[in-house]
Amino acid sequence: MKTLVTTAFIMLLTIATAHAGLKVVGRGDAMRLDPSAFPADMKASYEIMRVRCIKCHTMERTIIALTSGIAPISGQPFDRNATRAYGIKMMRKPDSNMNKQEVKTVVDLLNYLLVEAGK
Ligand code: HEC
Repeated sequence: MKTLVTTAFIMLLTIATAHAGLKVVGRGDAMRLDPSAFPADMKASYEIMRVRCIKCHTMERTIIALTSGIAPISGQPFDRNATRAYGIKMMRKPDSNMNKQEVKTVVDLLNYLLVEAGK
């Protein structure tokens, strides 16, 4: 019994820390990432995401997808195989005000962030 409890505890701990890799600042609508530890090119990409991807919804939606691995509205997986499709979906929305190059930059950033989130 004791072993079982210990095992359960360790599993919970692992789940809680599995996605501890991203530095999230603020809560709710004010939620954002702290890019200070990003490499220079990813810092530049973050600036694009910070401006382009908060036009219709806040950064919280993207951060939840990154840290949980689940797209919060559809409940679909949000992993490396999915980032490009989400980027294109967002670009195609009316008045998205994004071009292909910006979406590609953000998709590369999302893939980088998914790896970081998994650390
Ligand atoms: C023109 C408005 C608009 C812009 C700009 C926009 N989004 Fe969205 N986003 C939406 C809407 C509307 C939804 C609701 C669900 C859907 O249609 O996928 C959404 C949903 C999402 C979801 C959740 C998807 C799901 O299936 O749960 C994520 C993640 C996301 N957006 C990330 C981004 C990122 C990253 C960017 C920048 C590249 C971005 N959004 C830019 C409108 C926008």
